This record gives sequence, C-alpha cells and structure tokens, in this order.
Amino acid sequence: MTKQKINTHEVIDIVVNILNARDPYTSIHSWRVAELSVMMATAMSVPEKEKEIIHIAAHLHDIGKIGIPDKVLNKTGSLTFEEKEQIQAHPRIGHNILKRLPMFREISCIVLHHHERFDGFGYPEGLKGESIPLASRIISLADTIDAITADRPYRKAKSTEDCFGEIELHTGSQFCPTVISNMAKIRNDIEVVLNKLKIREIKHYAFVGHEELMHSRRLI
Ligand SMILES: [Fe+2]
Repeated sequence: MTKQKINTHEVIDIVVNILNARDPYTSIHSWRVAELSVMMATAMSVPEKEKEIIHIAAHLHDIGKIGIPDKVLNKTGSLTFEEKEQIQAHPRIGHNILKRLPMFREISCIVLHHHERFDGFGYPEGLKGESIPLASRIISLADTIDAITADRPYRKAKSTEDCFGEIELHTGSQFCPTVISNMAKIRNDIEVVLNKLKIREIKHYAFVGHEELMHSRRLI
C-alpha cells in the first residue's frame, strides 16, 4: 500500500461532516461559535497560528455529543440527574475521540475544558481562572452567546442586547473578565455577524467545502 500524507484539513472536514450527519443543529451552532471565537481571538490579538487552533477547536467543541443518545440530546423537558450526567460527559467523550490523533492533541484539551467556569464550578475538572486554557475560555463565551441568541424548541431567542447584559452579570463567575472586556469592544461586529449567520440555512452549510469552512471569514 502506498503511503500518503494525511492532510489535517481533510481529516477535520470528515469529522465535521460526521457531526453534521449525526446532529445538524450542533454542527451549525459550532460553525457560529467558530466565527465568534475567531472574532474574539482577533480582538485579543491572539497570534494567527493559535487563532487557527481556536477556530478548529470551536468547530469540534461539541463533537462528544455523538456519544449521547438522541432521546437525551433532544429532550425538551427537564433532565433527570442521570441524563444531566450523560450530557455533561460530552467534553470528555470529545477529548477521548480527538486525543487519539497527535495532530488534534492540543485541540482535544481545549475541547475538554470548554464547560469549565472561571470560578472553578464548571466541569469536567473544575479548573479555575487562567488555569483554563484561553481558547476554552473564548469558546465558552462564544458558545453562550450563540445559545442565548438562537431559537431552541424549548425557548425563544433573546436579542443580542439582552444577551450581552445577561453575560456581563456573570463576569468573573462563569466567564473570564479579560475575554468579556474584549467582547465588549466588538459588540457591534458580533451583532452584525450573528444576524448574517442566521440568514444562512442548513442547505448552504451542507454544501460548504472544508476550505470555506475552515479558513474563510467571508459572509454572504
Ligand atoms: Fe458543549
């Protein structure tokens, strides 16, 4: 058998498409989280190489949801203790999937910690403050912004203004103050991007190639 060099972006494209096939909502949500995360990383002057890692990690942050049964993942009512535990296992499942590939090792750690809280009361490891990777702190905030401003079967989307107000109440407890102050600088840009991304449908997303998915910040 001829040896072929593995192209990182081709592997990422396959993984993202597996997620899209299994759970289109999570895949589209992750795409918006990736855009927002890169915007915040840019506002924080994060070097290009790290920004690319943040972008990929954001696309894959919820990949562990592949391991959660549909009836739990899509449940609209309140969750039992066991169901909550199953959902909260997704960062570790994602980490275990991604860490097997050496090229994804750093990304797997970012994914592992995307539900930690700045005050140490998050999961899975209860890391606190700056011991949480910066990329995970950025993705955590982008994840929440998208969750609050998107319509879900169990609640209506909130305006970006209400979303920012709500998030700022959790500065220093759930979210990193440094990341929040950088978010504040680009509030208008975030609002513009969120509105544009809402216009784009699953139809479009299903056909984007990995080049656009991974590198282009261009919006239509
Ligand atoms: Fe998550």
